[in-house]
Amino acid sequence: MTFGRMPLANGFLTREQVADEYYFDLDPAICSYCNMFQIIEQPPRDKMFHENYAFLSSTSRYMQCHFEQFAEFVMNKVLAGRSDPFVVELGSNDGIMLRNFTKAGHRHLGIEPSKNVGDAARDRGIHTLTTYFDKDVSDRIVEEYGHADVVLAANVMCHIPDLSSVAEGVQCLLKPDGFFIFEDPYLGDMLTKTSYDQIYDEHVFIFSALSVSHAFRLYGMELIDVMPQVTHGGSMRYVLTKKGSYTASANVAHLIDKERAQGLHSIRTYLQFKENCEISRELLKQTLEDLRDEHKRIVGYGATSKSTTVTNYCGITSDLVEFISDTTPIKQGKLSPGAHIPVKPYEAFVANYPDYALLFAWNHAAEIREKEAKFIAAGGQWIVYVPKVEIVT
Ligand code: TYD
Repeated sequence: MTFGRMPLANGFLTREQVADEYYFDLDPAICSYCNMFQIIEQPPRDKMFHENYAFLSSTSRYMQCHFEQFAEFVMNKVLAGRSDPFVVELGSNDGIMLRNFTKAGHRHLGIEPSKNVGDAARDRGIHTLTTYFDKDVSDRIVEEYGHADVVLAANVMCHIPDLSSVAEGVQCLLKPDGFFIFEDPYLGDMLTKTSYDQIYDEHVFIFSALSVSHAFRLYGMELIDVMPQVTHGGSMRYVLTKKGSYTASANVAHLIDKERAQGLHSIRTYLQFKENCEISRELLKQTLEDLRDEHKRIVGYGATSKSTTVTNYCGITSDLVEFISDTTPIKQGKLSPGAHIPVKPYEAFVANYPDYALLFAWNHAAEIREKEAKFIAAGGQWIVYVPKVEIVT
């Protein structure tokens, strides 16, 4: 399957940079041997995670809450009773998760390749190394700090093409009774909701219990629990340990049975997904064109990474969407990748409500719709496209 030529999802750019914009072929595939859903062409990582990386985790209040609860879960279930535990987080961003461990006085270390977001964490007193995580970095951490009780990663593992080096590094970094806990957008949800916008350059993999258990088994790690999460439009938390150190919960076998029943191992399921994506694209395009023909104003809400796949795959440019409103300063005043729709501060949305807001940040729908009661009261309506294209108030 192909989504065509794509720019980088977080490659917000100035008008001067348009001529040199980087493109690659966004072609997802499923491996019939290990069931890993993945993209074939992977842009060089330094083009994606650099000192101007536009993604800051702490922009959402709900996500802050989610990470408080995630940290609480780890402290209660894993760290309780351990003396002077050591927590490592891969891709710790601006410290949205680790700040909870700092507050509780736990030894911690964040690994974050993008210098600007790592600086934001350091400013909050969170120990952060600016580097990618691999087996060598794991050895350095063990030498300097000792083995970890728990290694965490949230919305990070799916970004790392060299899964084997990370798996090997995590296995070496953990104490014999240590835990590796990570969460990422879940393949089962993506297929049921036709949320194809989870597929973009940074998401090399969309995991399932089938693919995670296989990938980590190769490195002596065992999937011992799974917990569905509502974040990012449907995610899964995976709990792994060194093989034989704990007994797996029945949740794992149940989820794997469910995945087989859903056909996550079958090519037919993905051919249906492809068709569903094409239908979604046609409906969204038609809806926007009809509204434009009625001279309605449409503004995008949230310059998400996901929106880059939607705008480019569906051919949505500024003749359909006037601008995209976003609260992240580094994105404002720039153009969206590929589609070149201007990104404006949230204040521009409030100053002159459009007739319709296209909800690109649909994963935050509950938070946003609660916050935007005035927009609806002023006669505004939402255009959503996950799980299906519709206009809602
Ligand atoms: P995010 O949820 O991280 O999605 P992705 O992983 O696809 O980038 O991004 C949310 C974006 O939406 C981020 O740029 C901030 C923006 N945003 C708003 O502008 N207003 C809001 O109320 C919320 C919740 C997010």
